This record gives sequence, C-alpha cells and structure tokens, in this order.
Amino acid sequence: MSLVVTGATGHLGHLVVEGLLDAGVPAGEIAAVVRSKEKAAPLAARGVELRIADYSAPETLTDAFRAGDRVLLVSGSEVGQRVAQHGAVVDAARTAGVALLAYTGILGGPDADFALADEHKATEQLILDSGLPYTFLRNGWYHENYTENLAPVLAHGAVVGNAGAGRIASASRADYAAAAVAVLTGEGHENRAYELSGDTAWTLAEYAAEVARQSGRDIVHREVTPEQHQEILVGAGLPAPFAAILVGVDTAVGQGLLARGDGALSRLIGRPTTPLADAIAAALK
Ligand SMILES: NC(=O)c1ccc[n+]([C@@H]2O[C@H](COP(=O)([O-])OP(=O)(O)OC[C@H]3O[C@@H](n4cnc5c(N)ncnc54)[C@H](OP(=O)(O)O)[C@@H]3O)[C@@H](O)[C@H]2O)c1
Repeated sequence: MSLVVTGATGHLGHLVVEGLLDAGVPAGEIAAVVRSKEKAAPLAARGVELRIADYSAPETLTDAFRAGDRVLLVSGSEVGQRVAQHGAVVDAARTAGVALLAYTGILGGPDADFALADEHKATEQLILDSGLPYTFLRNGWYHENYTENLAPVLAHGAVVGNAGAGRIASASRADYAAAAVAVLTGEGHENRAYELSGDTAWTLAEYAAEVARQSGRDIVHREVTPEQHQEILVGAGLPAPFAAILVGVDTAVGQGLLARGDGALSRLIGRPTTPLADAIAAALK
C-alpha cells in the first residue's frame, strides 16, 4: 500500500509530497505519478517511487496504482480535455482496487455554476459512479492566482476585474496541500466532500489596497464590464476561450460563489489558513 500523488511535479502535488515527508511518512511508502521522469528527478532523489503515466494515455495508467493505495488525483491543467483524462485515471484506480481516491475539485461542487467548474463536476460524478471510496477536496481559489500575477498590477497601478464587490475566500496552495496530506494520512475521510476555502474573504478593492500598502505604490481597483475585461485579457495575449473562462470566474465571484467558507480547511489542517497579506508579501519579495 502506498500513498500516491498524481501531478506531483506540479505546484500543488509537489507540496503534497513534501507535506507527506514532513509528516513522517517514509519516502518508500510514497509514489508520485508523473509524466516526466526528468522533472521528477528531485522526488526520486528523496526516495519517492516514480510511476510514469499520462492522463491522456490510458495504457500508461495500467501500472500507476496498486490494490490498497490511497490516491490523490490532482486535477489536470489541460482545460477541455480533463473529463476524458480524469475518467482514464478513475478507470485505472478502479481496476487496481485502490482503497481511497481523493480528488481536487472546485469550491461548491455540484452547485458551482460557472464554466471552469464543469469538468470538476463531471469528474466527481465519474468517481461516484466508480463505486470507489472517495474524498472530494473542493478547493477554493489559490492566493497565488492573484499574487503570481502582480507584475501587470504594479505596471498599470490597477487591479482590473468584473467581480464587483464579490468576495474571494482564497487560501494558499500550501494550505490546500496540507488538507490533502491530512486526508491521505488520516482516518474517517471516506465518502466525504470538503468545501475548502480561506478563513477570510476579500474583495478586489481590498486586494488593491493591500498591494498598495505593502508596495508603497498607488494601486486602484478598476471595475470593468465583462466585455471590457475580455478585451483587456485578449489584448494582453490570452487566448479568447481562456480569457472567457477568467471573465466567467469574476462573474462567479460577483455572485458570491467563491466567498463560501465554513472553516473546513482550517479544521482539516489544524491551524488558521494563510492570510492573503502573507502571500502578497512573499510575492513582492
Ligand atoms: N483552486 C485554484 O485556484 C486552482 C488554480 C489553478 C489550477 N487549479 C487546479 O488545480 C490543479 C493543481 O494546481 P497546480 O497549481 O499544482 O497546477 P500545476 O502546477 O499546473 O500542476 C498540474 C499538474 O498536473 C499534471 N498534469 C497535467 N496534465 C497531465 C496529464 N495529461 N498527465 C499527467 N499529469 C498531468 C502536470 O504535470 P507536469 O508537471 O508534467 O506539467 C502538473 O504536475 C491544476 O492542474 C488545476 O486543475 C486550481
């Protein structure tokens, strides 16, 4: 039996593997499902078993899981392909007979009414249909979605969006990774769905004010229409379909769909979630 983390060469998956090691799980009991052996070399160097597989190639997944494994499926990053990809992973996990399949979905689960949520909802249904014991880690927004994009904010002196006064209960990737570690190493999480979000919800205007405070620059919040936002994002080089997804996210924020929080994340990790101000400070360094 191993604790298995897919997407372990990505930001979140890597933090989960590090968290498992920090929690005292022996490296030999951790397996990383990755598509690049080279990218995963640092994990192998720490004694973590590598299982090479691609969500898009079902034949590569046949040896990714073993009976009794506890698996974290980190949702893929190729929007539009993820239902088929995740379906292949679920099939492989069911065939292997894993003991638990945890999945990083989206805050709100079936109630998340915006385009980016569709593939997560479909994946949860595939997992339910598989009959496998599951845990749904319905992750809210990462602080890093904002703080890793500070350069244009500082360059233009503005946080631009169409979210109005909608609030975002974000947390750091490290917080969500800690929740996954708690589920993989703990007991009693079978067939449960956790709505995971930060302890404090903030608006884009509050975000702009905090960036201004910490950077010492003039940073304002500039509310635009969805159409204007789409134009700005495409003008900045984003492909139109992806820009539309981001505009849809802001619309969802405006409707309060990403403000939800019942403290499940801080309860699961046994500490308060990381304040947004800390993530801004780290990014400004
Ligand atoms: N809650 C949020 O705010 C938020 C924000 C962004 C994304 N997400 C979701 O959360 C996931 C994890 O976030 P992250 O920051 O860790 O993203 P990330 O750094 O892009 O990591 C994604 C991981 O998925 C792996 N992957 C993608 N396609 C794959 C495929 N076809 N086969 C095998 N592995 C594949 C990647 O492998 P490689 O290392 O080989 O590229 C990478 O390890 C994302 O993939 C996305 O679904 C959530």
